[in-house]
Amino acid sequence: MNAPLNSDPRLDQAAVTDESLLAAHAKLLGKQPDEKARYKLLPLNLLFIFSGLIFFAGTYLNRYSGRFDPRIFDENAKPGLAGGTADAAQADPVAVGKKLFNNATCNTCHQATGLGMPGAIPPLVGSDWVTGSEERVIRIVLHGLQGPIKVNGVDYNSAMPPFGRVAGSGFNWSDDKVAAVLTYIRQDWGNKGGPITTEKVAAIRAKEGDRKPWTVAELEKLP
Ligand code: HEC
Repeated sequence: MNAPLNSDPRLDQAAVTDESLLAAHAKLLGKQPDEKARYKLLPLNLLFIFSGLIFFAGTYLNRYSGRFDPRIFDENAKPGLAGGTADAAQADPVAVGKKLFNNATCNTCHQATGLGMPGAIPPLVGSDWVTGSEERVIRIVLHGLQGPIKVNGVDYNSAMPPFGRVAGSGFNWSDDKVAAVLTYIRQDWGNKGGPITTEKVAAIRAKEGDRKPWTVAELEKLP
């Protein structure tokens, strides 16, 4: 059986021959899964596992990313506080004050022990100047101190530099730093003084302004 030339089997039913049918099926057979190459469809289980992972990752980020806020990522933040070091300073001025004291500042003279140096630097341990009048000790740290002073019954006559944010201070500590270091020295080494607030330091600095270091005679006129 011979097909007439130029006839298209798709248009002409009568033109269908065994050969053209076999040729058409051979083409279609080519699209079937190739057993030899071992192709397989993606297992449905894998699809579920991936969906589960993506869901888990989304939930995890939502729960622990802290909305990528740097303050929440602060590794020094105290547990229970969302806001980093500014809040930590308010929470524990003694710890902040201790760091300030020992960071090559007060400790270079008064020593980490607070005992000072015999004959040259007076001790802070057991000193009435430290645990007594707030008015006086705040002024000593803000503006400095010079001239003779008696501490724990021993005479000293030297100079202590100003630490506050005042003209001539090489330190320029903010009022809350001054308050923190004062609160610390009033409470370490067995000292039993009350805390000193930033407001109190700010009020005294506003009242006295920039001035030269105090003398004991001037301080003793204060309450
Ligand atoms: C350069 C050395 C030096 C540094 C730094 C220094 N002091 Fe002093 N401090 C002195 C001296 C010296 C005196 C005594 C001054 C005098 O003889 O008139 C003194 C006196 C004092 C007093 C009163 C006397 C007493 O012993 O109770 C206090 C309080 C005090 N210092 C606290 C501090 C604090 C707090 C810091 C750090 C913020 C500090 N000092 C940093 C040298 C220093």
